Amino acid sequence: MDTMTAVILAAGMGTRMKSDIPKVLHKVNGVPMIEQVIRIVKEAGCTSCITIIGHKGELVREAMGDRTAYAEQTEQLGTGHAVMQAAPLLEGNDGYVLVICGDTPLLRSETIRKLIGECREKKAAAAVLTAVMDDPFGYGRVIRDEEGHMLRIVEQKDGTPEELAVKEINTGTYCFEVKALLAALPKLDCNNAQGEYYLTDVFGLMIREGRFVVPVTAEDAEETMGVNSRIQLAAADRVLRRRKAEVLMAEGVSIIDPDRVYIGEDVTVGRDTVLYPGVILEGKTIVGAGCRIGPDTELENVVCGDDNHLNRVYAHDCTLGSHNELGPFVHLRPGTVMHDHIKVGNFVEVKNSDIGNGTKLPHLIYCGDADVGEKVNFGCGTVTVNFDGKKKYRTVVEDHAFIGCNTNLVAPVHIGKRAFTAAGSTITKDVPEEALSVARAKQKNIEHWVKDDTYKD
Ligand code: UD1
Ligand code: CA
Repeated sequence: MDTMTAVILAAGMGTRMKSDIPKVLHKVNGVPMIEQVIRIVKEAGCTSCITIIGHKGELVREAMGDRTAYAEQTEQLGTGHAVMQAAPLLEGNDGYVLVICGDTPLLRSETIRKLIGECREKKAAAAVLTAVMDDPFGYGRVIRDEEGHMLRIVEQKDGTPEELAVKEINTGTYCFEVKALLAALPKLDCNNAQGEYYLTDVFGLMIREGRFVVPVTAEDAEETMGVNSRIQLAAADRVLRRRKAEVLMAEGVSIIDPDRVYIGEDVTVGRDTVLYPGVILEGKTIVGAGCRIGPDTELENVVCGDDNHLNRVYAHDCTLGSHNELGPFVHLRPGTVMHDHIKVGNFVEVKNSDIGNGTKLPHLIYCGDADVGEKVNFGCGTVTVNFDGKKKYRTVVEDHAFIGCNTNLVAPVHIGKRAFTAAGSTITKDVPEEALSVARAKQKNIEHWVKDDTYKD
């Protein structure tokens, strides 16, 4: 396909959202609706986008950057008026243009491809994507003659009871021959119930002038749903999440309750991995094969190898090898690299550390800015003291070292191979390999401390 522009309508107030942010920036499955629409149109073959911004348009511009060009609609006088703002950018284009709403994030790229294809093949002035809905309330209705030829589109607020009984609706997605669109736009008026320039009036105009307009009916009405309220936003979110879950299940991933996992579009999961309820996988997360993830586990930009068991883990921007057991209640912070066969238990936080094969961090540990070798054991309550209030320092623990319970490792500090630290030690100096370091007050027992009755009941 040669070049093809998409005009995305996103200037509306989104009044029904009752929000301080523009409607199209509300997220569906973790992605702003407008971004989802840009993705879809690009997948469908559009080579450039013009987004019509208006109400709080600066926020849309900030969020989308140069993924799209922009045209401003300073007053929201209707969808026809919105498209007029893109007219100067379309002038001289003798091809086709896709017009789509920024609030229809469920459309599939194949559906849009089909719409564009029909318009081109039939050399039509326009093609309209329609859908048949059980409850068409709120949408524009597609009015046809007795032979089924399309006549015009009538908006909810302007329709006669007879017209409103029609269940075929306008999805708000169109393909136009640019010249035909530019010729029709100046002919629009706002003599209607809402006093707006309706884009939908161009079809009646074109048809009356003998131009061919082709209605293309979407097979799945659900994907054409527009989001106008928070209730519809939640419904759209659920559809997108369900789609992603179904793609993964088809590829061999088990999902215990598909309605209770949240998996971002770009996430991949290997076969035979089982996802329990409450799993959130976001960003560029990659999960390998044969893992058991969840319940209640959130991974963002995490690379997780094979055969890992993660129970109630919150991890972001880190890498896990394979055969690791984490949880419950583990927090892995950015820069953490865990190799293989590692055990991390309850209430452990690891930050910007490299943890070697077979190492154990079983309970109540803070491990920050540390390079930990293989088969090291961290006793319960071990803390790397990495921060002096100004700078952060690293702790190095060599292979097979044994860190006693409640050890403070005051960085920078180096613990040699097979060295031991005694429980309760505060280690401030390096410990040579195979040494035992005791750094705590010696125990002193004071006999007969309880002399009188004071301490006896
Ligand atoms: C519109 C259609 C209706 C269709 C429905 C599909 C018109 C007149 N009606 O109605 O036939 O069934 O979409 O979802 O086109 N916008 C602007 N500037 C404006 C007004 C709107 O950019 O001045 C944008 C909005 O941000 C939104 C889109 O256009 O993304 C649609 O506007 P909305 O008010 O939601 O139209 P509907 O009433 O849903
Ligand atoms: Ca709408």
